[in-house]
Amino acid sequence: MILMNDFRRQWDDIRDSAMEAFRVTGESGWYILGGEVRAFEQELAASEGRKHAVGVASGLDAIEIALKVLGCQSGDSVLTTPLSAFATTLAILKLGGVPVFVDTDAYGQIDLDRCRDLLWRRPDIRYFVPVHLYGHALDGARLKAIRDQFPLHIVEDCAQSIGARWRGEPAGTGQMAATSFYPTKNLGAMGDGGAILTDRPELHARAAALRDYGQTAKYRHEFIGSNSRLDEVQAALLRRVMLPKLEGWIARRRDIARTYLTGISNPLVRCIGAPEGSESNWHLFPVVAPADKKRAFMDYLKSSGIESGEHYPAIIPQQPAMAHVAFEFADDCSMARSIAAGEVSLPIHPYLTSGEAERVVEVVNAWNGAD
Ligand SMILES: Cc1ncc(COP(=O)(O)O)c(C=O)c1O
Repeated sequence: MILMNDFRRQWDDIRDSAMEAFRVTGESGWYILGGEVRAFEQELAASEGRKHAVGVASGLDAIEIALKVLGCQSGDSVLTTPLSAFATTLAILKLGGVPVFVDTDAYGQIDLDRCRDLLWRRPDIRYFVPVHLYGHALDGARLKAIRDQFPLHIVEDCAQSIGARWRGEPAGTGQMAATSFYPTKNLGAMGDGGAILTDRPELHARAAALRDYGQTAKYRHEFIGSNSRLDEVQAALLRRVMLPKLEGWIARRRDIARTYLTGISNPLVRCIGAPEGSESNWHLFPVVAPADKKRAFMDYLKSSGIESGEHYPAIIPQQPAMAHVAFEFADDCSMARSIAAGEVSLPIHPYLTSGEAERVVEVVNAWNGAD
């Protein structure tokens, strides 16, 4: 089977350095918020072109804590995308925020022109959580224009976009960014983890306190925080094993994306591709099949030995949990709905061989749309 992610192959590659990371952590005698987390935070910030990083327990927590740092509280309207991991919206809901969903463009990215138009009409919206989805970078010029035009607090969800750039500039260089180290991510840990990135020392200090019971010094609790600390073991793995490989892994994903983009020619299957200006990290490779044939396409891939995924089969406001909370549609979100109805993710990971990538192309091109 050609897998969506192949962690056994990864383990074969990283075994020695991973065992070394465990050894270093064990011998340090320090398991929570020690030297490995501190060093990783510095190295991550440097690699993303930011001044500060704060390691936390998950990407969900990273978004929630960053919003809290910026003062988001119950009843605040938060502009965001309907097409993302549920965690993006969940972070808003956990603070009592009210998500306002704006449609995406044909690349599945939140439509920044629609956001701008809405913000002119809705001065009450002061929070914005855009997502750099699929590993593409949002249009940095449009994002900056929004930042400059409106008094907004922005948390960029970079869970899928670590290492992606827009015309040379890393994704997520606004006020605050949040990322995830969930194992399938381009920079994945061997467990859960996440980080908050910012250039501003006061935001960094507040985030660092909030992930650790609101402590600003030992036994001094200035804020109502939580326990959301990145473990030393995960930090050691991330900095000693994964981060040094990130560029090479992204390069490999780009090679596979090129194979798919140039090879897939089946008129029934539209490659979503990268928006102009995005130097994507190709976290995912989404294609869109006719909605009424999506299941048949996934079954066909499976029977041909190819695993596939869905990112995401429904827009967030359609999830059952949303029936219990307040939210708003800024528009009909028709583009996001149509992508969700037909989207299928093809395998793309750094351990996929060229032969396997070519096999995926061959199988996709041979699909005739039959049930
Ligand atoms: C776009 C996006 N945002 C947020 C998250 C949440 O990250 P985590 O699973 O680490 O909580 C994820 C990952 O699942 C994601 O893909």
